[in-house]
Amino acid sequence: AFVSEVKGLEDIENLLKKELGYKKIIVVPGDSDKDPNVKRELGNAAAMCLSGMIRHKDIIALTGGSTIKEMVDSFPRMDFKDNLIVPARGSLGKIIDIQSNNLVAALAEKLGAPYKLLNVPDNLSSQSLEVLLKEKEIREVVDLIKRAQILVLGIGRADKMAQRRGLSREEITELLEEGAVGEAFGTYFGKGGKIIRKINSVGIRLEDYNNVGTLIAVTGGSSKAEAIDAVRLGNENAILVTDEGAARKVMQIL
Ligand code: BG6
Repeated sequence: AFVSEVKGLEDIENLLKKELGYKKIIVVPGDSDKDPNVKRELGNAAAMCLSGMIRHKDIIALTGGSTIKEMVDSFPRMDFKDNLIVPARGSLGKIIDIQSNNLVAALAEKLGAPYKLLNVPDNLSSQSLEVLLKEKEIREVVDLIKRAQILVLGIGRADKMAQRRGLSREEITELLEEGAVGEAFGTYFGKGGKIIRKINSVGIRLEDYNNVGTLIAVTGGSSKAEAIDAVRLGNENAILVTDEGAARKVMQIL
């Protein structure tokens, strides 16, 4: 609807941040769906953003995903030995490269910081979850995660993420029929930010981060526009780092 009035990326950033409820939006030129270099640039922009915001003694929580991986890959070496890096949630999917645990270890290495891993799958039944949370080692990591000052997360399409999370074809169809288009942090969102479903997770929900001081969402590609439009993080401090392909398409569907 706004497209005709819009010229440059700066206009898009300003318009979208109001519409989607972000404090700040950073848009890199290009579309990562069409050009892998753009995804690298997106990761780089996110790395610049995060590296400028880290303070000493911060706990930094990361989700997994291929986009966060790009950020970690292009992250500069820095000296933050007194930070602690943790996965934002349990693990999911089969691709080891993009697991949050893996990205946590890689970012920690760049910062010279210690890290904690959460070796728990992200799709447990409530009963198993309850049992696991009684384990001291898991409880301790979960408590640290909840105390994170910085959360960096990916945003995905509901259909793709449901697949990655191992849902059956019937479950995926049902989820999509209920209107899910976007996924972040184990929560599926429909148009307008409607919460469609939350999956069980190791005791950490998006709401636990309502007041987190620094929240950075990193996601791009025109195919993720509906997802980006749907996911509402409900955090006044949230920053979105995305690409032009996604941003322009979001403008069209708003
Ligand atoms: C996951 C996050 O690891 O990455 C999800 O937990 C997010 O919340 C997803 O939707 C995005 O993945 P990608 O590969 O598209 O960056």
